[in-house]
Amino acid sequence: MILLKTKEEIELIRDSARLLGKTLAEVGRHIQPGVTTAFLDNLGEQFIRDNGGIPLCKGYEGFPAAFCISVNDVVVHGIPSDNFFIKEGDNVSLDCVIEYNGYVSDSAYTFTCGETSSEMQRLLKVTKEALYIGLEKCKAGNRIGDIGHAVQQHCEKNGYSIVRELCGHGVGFKMHESPNVPNYGVPGTGSLLKEGMVIAVEPMVCMGSKNVVFSREDGWTCRTKDGKPAAHFEHTVAIGANGPDILTTFDFIEQQ
Ligand code: MF3
Ligand code: CO
Repeated sequence: MILLKTKEEIELIRDSARLLGKTLAEVGRHIQPGVTTAFLDNLGEQFIRDNGGIPLCKGYEGFPAAFCISVNDVVVHGIPSDNFFIKEGDNVSLDCVIEYNGYVSDSAYTFTCGETSSEMQRLLKVTKEALYIGLEKCKAGNRIGDIGHAVQQHCEKNGYSIVRELCGHGVGFKMHESPNVPNYGVPGTGSLLKEGMVIAVEPMVCMGSKNVVFSREDGWTCRTKDGKPAAHFEHTVAIGANGPDILTTFDFIEQQ
């Protein structure tokens, strides 16, 4: 069942989303050559708790950390580690879900460490554009397939591929609610979007082929099969009568 949110509830999700936007910026500004992913996770968890939030990934189905930190060919669900050192040129996706005053928001951003290749920059640019192109479809009267189709078209037109195994989702009261929000699809198909729905749209885009493998060791880490880089951007958005109301924000990241 797709739960609709009232205007008041959407404002409370926006408060949660604002703290999440600040959190991603705070962690992002510490990305430098030589830092470990566990260092970033710890400082981010502290920031969330100091500001009255709860990091929901920690303990979710056994996930051990507050953030998924996914570098280069890791698409999503990278587990922060004391032994993983970030290096110049890496792409570093931070994905985090928080609860604040009982309301849940989910957002991800792929940063780069220092100077990176023009190919990597183009992947990140196109993936972020695909997110916003998908978000434009988040208005009452459209369908879930309209979002996925728009995301897919933009990525494939640019020579990239879309991961099929994972998708976006409803969010707001819990981390994962109905409906699923695939990053591919057929226009005019899937659940009807209604005012008051809140969803997470999160394209996971590969520079090479769309095939991914999940780590047998930890059960989480999702990598591209061909070892080429991937990118991931995510916003929590409320479906409005006339268009999207994007609740999470990259402003704190992009202003710094
Ligand atoms: N933000 C992710 C999502 O979009 C994280 C879920 S995996 C977790 O669903 F286990 F780490 F929480
Ligand atoms: Co999500």
